[in-house]
Amino acid sequence: MGKFQVMDHPLIQHKLTIIRNKNCGTKVFREVVDEITTLMAYDVARDMPLEDIEIETPISKMTAKTLSGKKVAVVPILRAGIGMVDGILKLIPAAKAGHIGMYRDEETLEPHEYFVKLPADIEQRQVFVVDPMLATGGSAIMAIDALKKRGATNIKFVCLVSAPEGVKALREKHPDVDIYAAALDDHLNEDGYIVPGLGDAGDRLFGTK
Ligand code: PRP
Ligand code: URA
Repeated sequence: MGKFQVMDHPLIQHKLTIIRNKNCGTKVFREVVDEITTLMAYDVARDMPLEDIEIETPISKMTAKTLSGKKVAVVPILRAGIGMVDGILKLIPAAKAGHIGMYRDEETLEPHEYFVKLPADIEQRQVFVVDPMLATGGSAIMAIDALKKRGATNIKFVCLVSAPEGVKALREKHPDVDIYAAALDDHLNEDGYIVPGLGDAGDRLFGTK
């Protein structure tokens, strides 16, 4: 079973409180989502493989560590996942980005896929799927289905706020996928929103509604 990790670093928790506040405007919301994602990426990347290379410092030759050639892809679930892409690319600039378009039917809460564009060699890449919200889990499950159908095998899911319902559903459907969250909240309300959550992440990031 993949792990489920809540990242309780004080900086992450402090910044999450800023964006949960309903008075936080779009500009700050976007900036702080970016900052939190970078802080999370530091730990999400913890098991990236290293290899030895020979270099020369100004003083002597040495055998030093460098990231091995393992390739990375960051795949946001549109729209809200877009807000988390740069936060990861800042630390792993050689990563390629794919995109999966998914929206939830507001009545049924069922996800609908409308766009998939991935790096051609996705099956060789360590894939970080990013989306701020893991609510029912439907969007994450369908996005990971789409990735696996195209050959991806090494997948981690990174979100900001998760609900117990979504964590359970995602772990049941994709037990091989590690899940990283900045928070595990209480429950979903009757409209499928995470309580207390932060509202509609896409609308808050892009200033819609
Ligand atoms: C939100 C969010 C997730 C999804 C989570 O997207 O960004 O993708 O809901 O809900 P789930 O776990 O119940 O599937 P939304 O469908 O609102 O689309 P948007 O990002 O375009 O606003
Ligand atoms: N999607 C969001 O953007 N927010 C929620 O609380 C649930 C799903």
